[in-house]
Amino acid sequence: MEKEQLIKIDDSIHAWFNTLDDIIPKLINDMVTSTKKNRFDLVTNVDKSIQQKFESFLKEHYPSHQLFAEEKSNSEINAKEGHVWIMDPIDGTTNLVKQQEDYCIILGYFVEGEPMLSYIYDYPHGKLYKAVRGFGAYVNGEPLSSPEDIELKDAIISYNPLVINDETIQDLNEASFGYRCIGSCGLDSIRVIKGQFGAHVNTNPKPWDIAAQFLFASELGLKMTTLDNTKLDFSTAGPFIISNKACHTHMLDVLNSGNGYKN
Ligand code: IPD
Ligand code: CA
Ligand code: CA
Repeated sequence: MEKEQLIKIDDSIHAWFNTLDDIIPKLINDMVTSTKKNRFDLVTNVDKSIQQKFESFLKEHYPSHQLFAEEKSNSEINAKEGHVWIMDPIDGTTNLVKQQEDYCIILGYFVEGEPMLSYIYDYPHGKLYKAVRGFGAYVNGEPLSSPEDIELKDAIISYNPLVINDETIQDLNEASFGYRCIGSCGLDSIRVIKGQFGAHVNTNPKPWDIAAQFLFASELGLKMTTLDNTKLDFSTAGPFIISNKACHTHMLDVLNSGNGYKN
């Protein structure tokens, strides 16, 4: 894809994100929460409206592009064919409902299965993270540099302790510097992208949880793999790690030793 074409699309996505700044406060003000699979699986009018607005934007400006997103059925879509946008309209819905902080919008643009543009919009903190294939990563337009090497013994690591066996948690505590978890796959990943965390693990992400991270990882020299250290398929997702390159192997060794994790 030509650079000019990519820049044009990027400009229009920026303009779309700008429109949200007026809309989100009103949606939050009138927040309606409902449950999906169980009482912890929440969705709100904010998630649904953001996704609907992006769907309308695509229909108007890029009618041949497809949307693969959390709050819709994607059964008709082959995410590896043509122009596909993968979206999590709100990542960290529990945080939105319970704290009104630490949630984001995840958006990834793929052409024939290759990531071209990626966005993680940390709306509460006014930070738009972006990666452009071949042209690096940015926050609010300022270039992000590749994080310094972080060995596991010096690293803060993040994961959901409810799905890791106790013995493995103990091993991870001993091998790393400390544990923190934000509770938004996109924002936990941003900490790794910025060199604040050494690694983030999610044992059961869906494509929309990790769609944007691929391009940030490749542009900034981070590792993003399955927990078996194999290539991660963006269209099916599944257990994943995004990690500083200096602690990736060590982190996986510890995670996979002993009883490991459960899905
Ligand atoms: C969830 C968050 C959470 C992660 C879950 C995701 P949602 O996304 O990213 O941190 O542990 O696996 O499903 O439901 O808030 O979009
Ligand atoms: Ca999510
Ligand atoms: Ca979501």
